[in-house]
Amino acid sequence: MRILSPSILSADFKNLGQQIVDVKEAGAEYLHVDVMDGVFVKSISLGMPVIKSARSACDIFFDVHLMIVDPIRYIEEIAASGADGITFHLEAAEDPMAVIDKIHSLGKHAGISIKPGTDVSTLKPYLDKVEMILLMTVEPGFGGQKLIPESFDRIKAVRKMLEDTGSSADLEVDGGIKKENVQDIVKAGANVIVAGSAIYAGDAAANVKDFLSLINNA
Ligand code: DX5
Ligand code: ZN
Repeated sequence: MRILSPSILSADFKNLGQQIVDVKEAGAEYLHVDVMDGVFVKSISLGMPVIKSARSACDIFFDVHLMIVDPIRYIEEIAASGADGITFHLEAAEDPMAVIDKIHSLGKHAGISIKPGTDVSTLKPYLDKVEMILLMTVEPGFGGQKLIPESFDRIKAVRKMLEDTGSSADLEVDGGIKKENVQDIVKAGANVIVAGSAIYAGDAAANVKDFLSLINNA
């Protein structure tokens, strides 16, 4: 199944509720929520209070991407704020299996992510343990960057690893995804597409519709 996950990092936060309703009504199934701590990545974005109040805007799958050190510390609070799926970074976790177990114990979907410089083989032990693999296609920390071209080979490699393992985990990609490159990204093997600036700069509902038609016809 192919899914679009608009990232609210590029949304207009003074109208956040409406911005979420707009993308859901246009057909987006997930909402991507980036949590940054200023340590694992340079920037600081948002946390529990924003997730909690955004959650009440409408019923859409909250796909929370944690870019924080030692993520196990915050899994319970993030789950309680209303996350449906929680993705953490392999590079940030001392014991990634413990984080996955914790997310599952709270009844949420678990995702594991790697940065562009981390070898895809490091994902192997987790392929059949998570609901989602998130491959960063830019260096995490900011929206509006350009997709790193080597990402295509990495997407293909992870798709093959998932097939070889018989894992049904989703393969999500995040960073620099635009209408111009999204079809090639889907063809390479990604099935959950994050887009921030390409959706929220301009008419979000129209952009969601364009993306969905590109994704579903790739
Ligand atoms: C960046 C975040 C992304 C960001 C993507 O570290 O993880 O989710 O919102 O933004 P775009 O689509 O503008 O590259
Ligand atoms: Zn993200």
